[in-house]
Amino acid sequence: MDTARIESIIDSHDGEASSLIQILLDIQNELHWLPAEALQLVSERLQVPMSRIQHTATFYKAFSLVPKGRHEINICMGTACHVRGAPRVLEVVQNITGIQPGETDPDMKFSLDTVNCLGCCALGPVMEIDEQHLGKLVPDTAAEVLKKYE
Ligand code: FES
Repeated sequence: MDTARIESIIDSHDGEASSLIQILLDIQNELHWLPAEALQLVSERLQVPMSRIQHTATFYKAFSLVPKGRHEINICMGTACHVRGAPRVLEVVQNITGIQPGETDPDMKFSLDTVNCLGCCALGPVMEIDEQHLGKLVPDTAAEVLKKYE
């Protein structure tokens, strides 16, 4: 872990305990997960008990306590997306990435998950990669999109 980088993130928020969530989000964005050493450092610098930090880190879906790939794929399996072909999109993404929902590939390139709704049902099937929404997907388009990611 790059301790200096974590220190720098904490400093950018003036070490304020009230900025805990934003600090954790910045660390999550930088490392793609929240290592225990980083949480310990945040606890010490912000003078916030580890129990509160762990509660926060496990409460929000945006945080991960296990390593994630460089690119996070969420495929909507909600009803509107499901009836428009989301299972076929999921199948092709699983085949290309070699991982199932909840997994990260060994190269740490992709993490894959399914969600129940991404809030844009009219665009179904919808896939989100690194918070970018891609709608009206067909399996071939999803396959093309994945090729663009390093
Ligand atoms: S059901 Fe897929 S975006 Fe709402």
